[in-house]
Amino acid sequence: MSAPRVELSTEVEPAAATAPKTVFIKTFGCQMNVYDSERMAEALAADGYAQTAAIEEADVVVLNTCHIRERAVDKVYSDLGRIRDIKQQRLADGKPTTVTIAGCVAQAEGAEIARRVGAVDIVVGPQSYHQLPSLIARTRTEGQIIATDFPDEDKFAALPVRKRAANTAAYLTVQEGCDKFCTFCVVPYTRGAEFSRPVAQILDEARRLVASGVRELTLLGQNVNAFHGVDANGREVSLAGLLKALALIPELERLRYTTSHPRDMRDDLIELHASEPKMMPYLHLPFQAGSDRILAAMNRKHTAADYLALVARIRAVNPALALSTDIIVGFPGESEAEFEATLDMVRMVQFAQAYSFKYSARPGTPAATMDGQLPEAVKTERLHRLQALLAEESTRFNAGCIGKIFPVLFEKPGRRAGQLIGRSPYLQSVYADVSASAIGLILPVQISGAGPNSLAGVVCAA
Ligand code: SAH
Ligand code: SF4
Ligand code: F3S
Repeated sequence: MSAPRVELSTEVEPAAATAPKTVFIKTFGCQMNVYDSERMAEALAADGYAQTAAIEEADVVVLNTCHIRERAVDKVYSDLGRIRDIKQQRLADGKPTTVTIAGCVAQAEGAEIARRVGAVDIVVGPQSYHQLPSLIARTRTEGQIIATDFPDEDKFAALPVRKRAANTAAYLTVQEGCDKFCTFCVVPYTRGAEFSRPVAQILDEARRLVASGVRELTLLGQNVNAFHGVDANGREVSLAGLLKALALIPELERLRYTTSHPRDMRDDLIELHASEPKMMPYLHLPFQAGSDRILAAMNRKHTAADYLALVARIRAVNPALALSTDIIVGFPGESEAEFEATLDMVRMVQFAQAYSFKYSARPGTPAATMDGQLPEAVKTERLHRLQALLAEESTRFNAGCIGKIFPVLFEKPGRRAGQLIGRSPYLQSVYADVSASAIGLILPVQISGAGPNSLAGVVCAA
């Protein structure tokens, strides 16, 4: 029985007083941060917060930050300057703002950020963001809060269950942290020790996402192929085992995973690229440098020859598989000849795509205090040469796609009306004229044009 209207109206507050609370979230860094931001938005939605794209209107501002290179951190501090002004202006209008620093800068710098920027209310690390709604409530009475411990509870279990993802191609974090300690890298310090989520928890999340319309999943982890989750029977499951279980979900059509370490590329995973049609023929496999001396100084624990042999094994299993990679130039002590060994690797492997970076000394990492730190100008010059070669390689790969018919998963509207953007199996953006109702569908597209970063195509008639 419903209550009489008049009684109800005495119980609820007037609409103006219950205007929805809003949160603005900006994401820096890797896909894992993109995933974390979605989960933070969901946790806050369960607490009554709607997301806004207008920072000036937000009651809560979250910067989900990245610590990987100095420049990533500089961007956060420059944003914070602007946010401090917005917070002041809003306060003058009688509207408080809760400023939250989440992610890897939060973990690495902790209380230091709150000390440097008084406008910051909450500093919350990547393992504690499930506490965000309660931290926001607490900061109103307690002032600045630093939550950078690695708590005992499982954040994934504590977060609200997922109802949908932002896109038909979604991310799903299955593994976090890293025990590899490459000498240049902050991740083992910001994300903590390697940890795999339980298999049942992952399958449950995947099924919910697929039920909401997701057709492609990219499993995420800083070291995703080191995944070793435990199934409901207490048995250990490799990444290949997890992918096989996910492939059984009928409406889930495509599977990817990133980022893999060359040393954890096991045979069962390589073989899955031949036996499982849902596995996309594309693998992100960072090699970082072509010189064995530099690789050893980086503590990568593989040589250039190991990497090439691995690529050969993968290509023998699936010749159609394309590779992408990460490369660092200007590691301490890198000579011109050692840099050229990196160029040689690029020529030998022929990557479809690559991300390349100037070495950035990170506080607290072993490489930051090594001898032979190179001048910025040397790093810049090497990066330009490398990127010119990489652009040639990716342009050639993309041009080789012209005339082929690719299954394309359409994800979102393109730049022009009547156009959508989708993804090829090789993760290329594909632009095609097709009605908006195709979002979420995989359609055959004949590739008609190619640039360094995207393809154009025509949807084939049914
Ligand atoms: N776990 C992944 C990479 C994580 S970080 C792996 O093992 O490959 C993403 C990329 O950033 C790295 O692959 C590396 O190329 C780059 N990177 C990490 N630390 C860096 C630093 N200090 N300077 C420049 N690039 C860095
Ligand atoms: Fe960083 Fe190396 Fe771990 Fe990758 S494997 S996250 S580069 S320490
Ligand atoms: Fe950056 Fe942290 Fe990802 S340092 S690359 S956001 S794991």
